[in-house]
Amino acid sequence: MRKIVIGSGGISGLKLVDAADPEPGPGEVLVLMHASSLNYRDLVTVRQAGATTPGLVPNSCGAGEVVAVGDGVRRIAVGDRVAPMFFQKWVDGRITPEARGSTLGGPIDGCLRDLMVLNEEGVTRLPDDMTFEEAATLPCAGLTAWRALVEEGNLKAGETVLVQGTGGVSIFALQFARLFGAEVIVTSSSDAKLERARALGATHVINYRQMPDWASAVRQLTGGRGVDHVVEVGGADTLQQSIASIALGGNIHVIGVLGGYVKDVDITQIFRSNGRIQGVTVGSRAMFERMLRAMHFNGIHPVIDARFPLENTADAFELMARGGHFGKIVIEH
Ligand SMILES: NC(=O)c1ccc[n+]([C@@H]2O[C@H](COP(=O)([O-])OP(=O)(O)OC[C@H]3O[C@@H](n4cnc5c(N)ncnc54)[C@H](OP(=O)(O)O)[C@@H]3O)[C@@H](O)[C@H]2O)c1
Repeated sequence: MRKIVIGSGGISGLKLVDAADPEPGPGEVLVLMHASSLNYRDLVTVRQAGATTPGLVPNSCGAGEVVAVGDGVRRIAVGDRVAPMFFQKWVDGRITPEARGSTLGGPIDGCLRDLMVLNEEGVTRLPDDMTFEEAATLPCAGLTAWRALVEEGNLKAGETVLVQGTGGVSIFALQFARLFGAEVIVTSSSDAKLERARALGATHVINYRQMPDWASAVRQLTGGRGVDHVVEVGGADTLQQSIASIALGGNIHVIGVLGGYVKDVDITQIFRSNGRIQGVTVGSRAMFERMLRAMHFNGIHPVIDARFPLENTADAFELMARGGHFGKIVIEH
């Protein structure tokens, strides 16, 4: 089989190599991968390319078809179309330390390979109307947006959601917010991307480059009230603005660190807002299954902006590194 491995030198160090075909052991399934997708985390992993990562197969997200099963497998059968779960050991309930260490794309080899052996509990069957490319976008980005707004945020019709930028997590958050009847404000560095966000149902858009104090614009757009949810992916660049943007009792779903990891914040604004700041790391398999059903019954399809063959994976990472995408970037195997 072919696989992409991390070398040294970041994106230019990615290598396509041959490897022996794996075989499933007891309780395991062998998946022929048809597609995978990029997340910002994968870009960070490839760029860091430290002493622990050479030889690692990057990318947490993909989808494929089960071509063999090991002894004792009951949940999954040959021929099933499946997606591997981001957390291989988080089936349901609250996250555990064991689950937290069970992530694909590091420390466990990820999806940029032709064949994957996974525990049968670590995959989910896909609806028939979802393509492998679409499904490959969901295990991290889709599920993170779903968990933040729906599972943790208890999103209600008529609420207002702010999403930051137009990357993978944010565009899923826009789609799920519209599904639940929420009004959506989108920020972006690009007016062209903001127009695309409007076409997907954003009610208001703000260019955060032209308007660095975008919290004031959010106040104006909401009649002074603020928003009920912020899907916070900007990290150090955006957290203070997010706190200034929420309505009384609003929610900030802390997900990303696009603009840095550490930030001094004005604590008085947090308690005055009576807001909730909720950390989110992806989600469980049970949450993923609920998300899939909601997407299936409502005809929601992921927004795929660009597709690359496996051998051109480096070009896909270059596109993400320059922020040239809207929604998701997919690799076709
Ligand atoms: N906690 C979790 O479980 C979890 C799960 C998934 C992702 N994440 C994190 O969430 C973040 C987004 O991930 P992703 O995969 O969706 O990324 P992505 O697809 O690469 O999206 C990046 C986009 O975000 C916008 N952006 C970049 N810097 C920004 C800033 N300083 N302020 C506001 N927007 C900014 C840009 O949009 P425009 O071009 O429109 O300006 C950029 O194109 C990353 O930090 C990632 O590590 C965390």
